Amino acid sequence: MCGIVGYIGMHRAADYLVNGLSKLEYRGYDSAGIAVLENNKIRVEKCVGRLDALRTKLGNNIPEGNIGIGHTRWATHGRPSDLNAHPHVAGKFAIVHNGIIENYLKLKEELLAKGHEFTSETDTEVVAHLLEDYYEGDFEEAVKKVLRVIRGSYALAFMCEDQPDMIICTKKDNPLVIGLGDGENFIASDIPAIINETRRTFIMSDGEIATVTPDGVWIQDINGVPISKKVFIVSWNAEAAEKSGYDHFMLKEINEQPKAIRDTVSGRINLEEKNIAFPELCWTEDEMKEINKIFIVACGTAYHAGIVGKYYLEQLARIPVEVDIASEFRYRSPLVDGNSLTIVISQSGETSDTLAALREAKRLGARTLAVTNVVGSSIAREADQVVYTYAGPEIAVASTKAYTTQLLAMLMLSIYVARLRNTLDKRTIAGLVTALANLPNAVEQTLKHTETIKGLAEKYSPCNDVFFLGRSLDYAVALEGALKLKEISYIHAEAYAAGELKHGTLALLVPGVPVIVLATQEDIYDKTISNLQEVKAREAEVLAIGFEGDSSLENYADHVVYIPKTDKYLAPMLSVVPLQLFAYHAALVRGCDVDKPRNLAKSVTVE
Ligand code: F6R
Repeated sequence: MCGIVGYIGMHRAADYLVNGLSKLEYRGYDSAGIAVLENNKIRVEKCVGRLDALRTKLGNNIPEGNIGIGHTRWATHGRPSDLNAHPHVAGKFAIVHNGIIENYLKLKEELLAKGHEFTSETDTEVVAHLLEDYYEGDFEEAVKKVLRVIRGSYALAFMCEDQPDMIICTKKDNPLVIGLGDGENFIASDIPAIINETRRTFIMSDGEIATVTPDGVWIQDINGVPISKKVFIVSWNAEAAEKSGYDHFMLKEINEQPKAIRDTVSGRINLEEKNIAFPELCWTEDEMKEINKIFIVACGTAYHAGIVGKYYLEQLARIPVEVDIASEFRYRSPLVDGNSLTIVISQSGETSDTLAALREAKRLGARTLAVTNVVGSSIAREADQVVYTYAGPEIAVASTKAYTTQLLAMLMLSIYVARLRNTLDKRTIAGLVTALANLPNAVEQTLKHTETIKGLAEKYSPCNDVFFLGRSLDYAVALEGALKLKEISYIHAEAYAAGELKHGTLALLVPGVPVIVLATQEDIYDKTISNLQEVKAREAEVLAIGFEGDSSLENYADHVVYIPKTDKYLAPMLSVVPLQLFAYHAALVRGCDVDKPRNLAKSVTVE
């Protein structure tokens, strides 16, 4: 997904711009560019490909100016190309844009009729031409006029040759932050791009227009009404956004799970009272009793966390739950009303489909709650209530620690709701709280099996297909294991509810095909083992994941990976770890770009 940076100050802007963009590489992109004001003239350097291609293009001929904007583009309108790369220029203006200008075709027609000449196929270029068209000597006024006519979603940064002392930026439905320095200021679409420079930030809200100079930042709305904002101090450090010695962000993030879990339970479990608390939530018992249905809405891995959440909420809090893919929910006229609660789950808090689903649920009158990892994200701001996961920045495209903390948040939430609705006895809650307190250690123990899993991943990495089976919560985790494997190793992988296999897919099981079977759910354990035997009877290779002490698994499976024994509800947070490691090592052996899988982006802010 696209990234934006901007710099204004006393140093060479290009250095910060390229460096800042490199910190946004995790978002996924296909071209990159910068625009710098050099001797009062805009100089643009941009090209298709990775940032290295831009660095090579610049060579020693680096623009010298102290004000500039930069961009990494993930193509939406127009293929990846030098011309379609941002920044886009018209007359005295250069602009960069994340998002989509929905009415660009109509605007382009009007501009063409007025004689404007376009050089790209992008929706973005109309913004630069509109600015040129509306400009009558007042840069800020021209920007406001542009904002009155464009429709869609955007984070935008603008530069003007007549105003060598300012960058203007604004946003709607796309993230944008301003980093506050000393005699210099920074603009970025995400915090990692500025964290090396400053931790003091303004998190921009929709409709705010910021005029950024070396000495200050002035924020106003479209009518010129000044807005005063609180400085937001970023609590994580630069190191947290780096690889810390690991070969890949994904491996670092898999290994960070014990800490992510510790941070997410912290302040929410009370070991003395053996209870769960969510100080941030303000629900009364009566309000909780009014809720007669829950919708969980999310995309991808977060959707898989939602499926686990359904099991938790239904079994512990006894509320009916529907889980929806966000892009389906928003268009299917869901039967949502004031007595229902819609929970949206999103690591980034910016996923376009999830945000739209949240808005749809609100429009229909539902109460809403967001489970997200990004403080101040659009989804966090728009939901009625927020439960944050504290996984820290997740850089690898493949979600790992965000997923486990989403499961954790859903489990704690379910226990909390169950308590308010009196559907769980104190002893059960106490048992779960104790198990939750031990969870980080259990994940650490699970991570110790890395070498065994690596060996298995190497053995099976040449395969074309891998199947994942499980029942109940094991099935939900199987879905996530299959997604992890396909997205980073490009091996075709499918997950099935183990009991469903015989209804068709069993036909695909031929000798040697690897089948990963999760067997952690004691209430349906025997059924899972029967399905495992159906698989073995077709001479498929079975890799089982089960609890320590369950040595009987070795009688049925070719390989067994053990996870520490825990409560069945916590098993998903352990059993997913070997699946993440399996996918990681299989991808590595196959020479894949683990952190940036092909065609994928970290934060999907288009529909
Ligand atoms: C897969 C993955 C994606 C995301 C999905 C939703 O590893 O990361 O499937 O889970 O794009 O993203 P968020 O959670 O940011 O809404």
